[in-house]
Amino acid sequence: MSAPATERDTVGVFSPGRARILARTLRQDRWWLSPLLTVVGLAAFVIYATIRSFVRTAYYAADYHYLSPFYSPCLSESCVPGASHFGTPFPELPVWIPLAFLSLPFLLGFRLTCYYYRKAYYRSVWLSPPACAVAEPHSRYTGETRLPLIIQNSHRYFFYVAVIISVINTYDAIVAFHGKGGGFGFGLGNVILVVNVLLLWTYTVSCHSCRHVTGGRLKHFSKHPVRYWVWSQVSKLNTRHMQFAWITLGTLVLTDFYIMLVASNTISDLRFVG
Ligand code: FES
Repeated sequence: MSAPATERDTVGVFSPGRARILARTLRQDRWWLSPLLTVVGLAAFVIYATIRSFVRTAYYAADYHYLSPFYSPCLSESCVPGASHFGTPFPELPVWIPLAFLSLPFLLGFRLTCYYYRKAYYRSVWLSPPACAVAEPHSRYTGETRLPLIIQNSHRYFFYVAVIISVINTYDAIVAFHGKGGGFGFGLGNVILVVNVLLLWTYTVSCHSCRHVTGGRLKHFSKHPVRYWVWSQVSKLNTRHMQFAWITLGTLVLTDFYIMLVASNTISDLRFVG
């Protein structure tokens, strides 16, 4: 919550005991560029993903069994024929419920509670802080000690569900090796689907909670050689977690967009086999 200017001007770097410098920061570089790019990138993804998750058009290319990740798993009778790889246990859904209602809230929760994204939106959206050594516009700070932010501690549970959803996405990518007339087929859509799934797995297992549960919480690595090895590999990926977070936002959009173009017959899939 922003404080009135008078209160704000007496806390933090403006406190009575601090050196009297009236500027919010003395930094001369473009410190605002990174938070600005973060907001633009996140907003673009949220707008695209929201629209595509609700429109219910061109999300399944029946000829090749390509299913958009924004519609997986598709479990209701509202799904187009063939898109339901796991049956249709749910009846028709009203338009305000996305067809992937079982996975999207968990994926949203997974990314929202992700340690990297928290850093990104705490800085760029809540300006807490906007950049290192730039005074905050807030006079009070309680961190993640209270509701609602204390809920961020549930991230590991979203991680467990994200692993299950990654298995489902993997299954979708495998059944997409389907030819137009039946049998095996292989086209550019398969390359896009497989690359997207591999990167989703990489993002998921590079998670900080994954690092903790695999071995990070152990005290004596010497007594757990297998978990130590797994923890070592996860730690290597974890150093690139930020990059995987952004790359997978991009590959999700690209995958959905390509399937939309093929499913709507705007372009035809580049086929190698079948
Ligand atoms: S910390 Fe980013 S997904 Fe877990």
